[in-house]
Amino acid sequence: MVFYIVNLILSPHVENTKFYLIIKIIFVSNFPSIFIHSLDISLALHYNAFIMCGIVGCIGTKKAKPILLDGLRRLEYRGYDSAGLAVWDGQTVNLAKTKGRVADLAELVREQALAGTVGIAHTRWATHGEPSAKNAHPQTDEDKNVFVVHNGIVENYKPLKQKLEQLGHCFQSETDTEVLAHLVEHFLKQGADLEHAVKQALRRVRGTYAVLVMAASEPDTLIAARFSSPLRIGMADGQIIVASDPSAILSHTTQVITLSDGEVATINRGGYTITNITNDEVINKDVDAIEWDVSAINKGAFEHFMLKEIFEQPETLQNSFRGRLDPESGLAVLGGLESVAEQLRRIKRIHIVACGTAYHAGLIGEYMLEEYAGIPVEVGIGSEFRYRNAVLDPENDVVLVISQSGETADTLAAVREAKEKGVLSLGIVNVVGSTIAQETKAGVYNHAGPEIGVASTKVFVSQLAVLALLTIFLGRQRQMSLVVGKRIAQALAALPEQIQAILNQSEAIKKMARAYSGYKDFFYLGRKYNFPIAIEGALKLKEITYRHAEGGPSGELKHGPLAMIDESFPTVFICPQDSVYDKNVSNMEEVRARHGRIIAVATEGNGEVKSLAQDVIYIPKTLEMLTPILSVVPLQLFAYHMARELGLDIDKPRNIAKSATVE
Ligand code: F6R
Repeated sequence: MVFYIVNLILSPHVENTKFYLIIKIIFVSNFPSIFIHSLDISLALHYNAFIMCGIVGCIGTKKAKPILLDGLRRLEYRGYDSAGLAVWDGQTVNLAKTKGRVADLAELVREQALAGTVGIAHTRWATHGEPSAKNAHPQTDEDKNVFVVHNGIVENYKPLKQKLEQLGHCFQSETDTEVLAHLVEHFLKQGADLEHAVKQALRRVRGTYAVLVMAASEPDTLIAARFSSPLRIGMADGQIIVASDPSAILSHTTQVITLSDGEVATINRGGYTITNITNDEVINKDVDAIEWDVSAINKGAFEHFMLKEIFEQPETLQNSFRGRLDPESGLAVLGGLESVAEQLRRIKRIHIVACGTAYHAGLIGEYMLEEYAGIPVEVGIGSEFRYRNAVLDPENDVVLVISQSGETADTLAAVREAKEKGVLSLGIVNVVGSTIAQETKAGVYNHAGPEIGVASTKVFVSQLAVLALLTIFLGRQRQMSLVVGKRIAQALAALPEQIQAILNQSEAIKKMARAYSGYKDFFYLGRKYNFPIAIEGALKLKEITYRHAEGGPSGELKHGPLAMIDESFPTVFICPQDSVYDKNVSNMEEVRARHGRIIAVATEGNGEVKSLAQDVIYIPKTLEMLTPILSVVPLQLFAYHMARELGLDIDKPRNIAKSATVE
């Protein structure tokens, strides 16, 4: 059966979707559920591209280099771990690629004339292979004839690569995209023109793509194609610009054609033709006028990256769950842990280590893992863990680090300490190929996409989601019942929509933030799962508004902090209807008795809190262990709107950087 399927993958006549459905049916009817699940992963990928990375290309009368670099700068929020471009100069195609940002690429080509008017470029956020010049796009074949930039994932790149290697092709990178360049070259050598070579290559691909291809042998042509990943063609005067995102087009023209799945555009200086990938049928497309404010394009319609990233959270969760969550069987499939799954079955203690917001995620992970997986957990701050000589048992312990950037020095030190003491190290990391991702033995990527705002928002909710998946994974290896596994998985699946319901209250939260913007001190309190949300809410407020904010467990109020409370010192209570709700209500009474103002985050439908608090923000009902994923969202918005009211530099707050790579 497996051979049959591999043959189908390589068969030239099978069109993507149909082929996929055939396989799906074969599997569903013949294979045990675990195989069905792994196919669902692919199916999900098939229909939902990871919209990371950016493509831009141009052909016309103007010099390509400045157009490409400007386009990449505008797309940089999509991915910024490496970048590259290829420009035809009339003799040859010049290729320049580098690890790092677009500014590094601009520096690399500063002295190069690159006089041509045809070119393609890419800014990457790694999915296959670490960020490096070698893995950056454009990817090319060994003769350096074909150049490809690609967004998406070639799921069947391994069998395709094997087949090409058997035919004598040598690969240079670890990317899935390089396979496309070699495949196109293969068909060019068999006599196809560039358009048909690209079509033949793409017909063998399973996965998602937006691609832009050029070839030294046909230098006045660009081929653009898409399947499940966006690609647009902008029609300017004497100039055609192709890009994955309108932001790279709009400074040239607002007249744009959007390619649909299965369409291929053959573009040259005289214009373009769009045809169907399977039968060459010509497709007439309407040119649309895009009405975006060009000055805001880098952040889409949002004024700041932080707000954009807060609003992306429903999609972020979907990306973090994709292919990993099975509500029907109450299982979490974490491919990155497969190699250590048997060892994880036997572990007796987890040490979570992280810094800042990631540490707060770890604190919530402790509650989840102890309650549902029954594993003792200790949580440490990176900068403390490295110096406290933690007692680690190589037989029974595991060190789990959490880091968005994967580069935080103190967190990395914990990984090295674990290694030194012979203890298994795992990571929950967002940046693919980062140092922590490389140095941990195994782990789970967040797949949250680039986070640009310095204050972490969407990656925090993704970290919580991954910790919940890990809880199911480890819990089901132990005593967690099918029913409990299903309950958690189903509640997780509902979260994206529930976050959206909170985002819809942004305007009301804005008014609230405005009303509180004159206060200088804030207290944030919560219990159990929402104690870490209290300190996270306070951190968000201090880092972007520079207001004094303290967070802590509600139960500590009477042990000192209550002395600070008066009418000038508001308290934010995170008090969803959970197992400690009544305790929180008692603390609210204590604050009220001292004339303290109260802002409460409460569960929809709760009338009691309204009588105690001056202001209430409601969140939808979910499982207690998942309430932090919802309760943090209004606090992010509250901090954001207050900082905006105060006119501060929200995306780049003073004194702090996105990634703390030194101690
Ligand atoms: C706060 C924030 C920081 C980071 C911390 C760890 O909004 O972003 O507290 O969470 O610097 O960074 P990573 O997760 O990259 O290790």
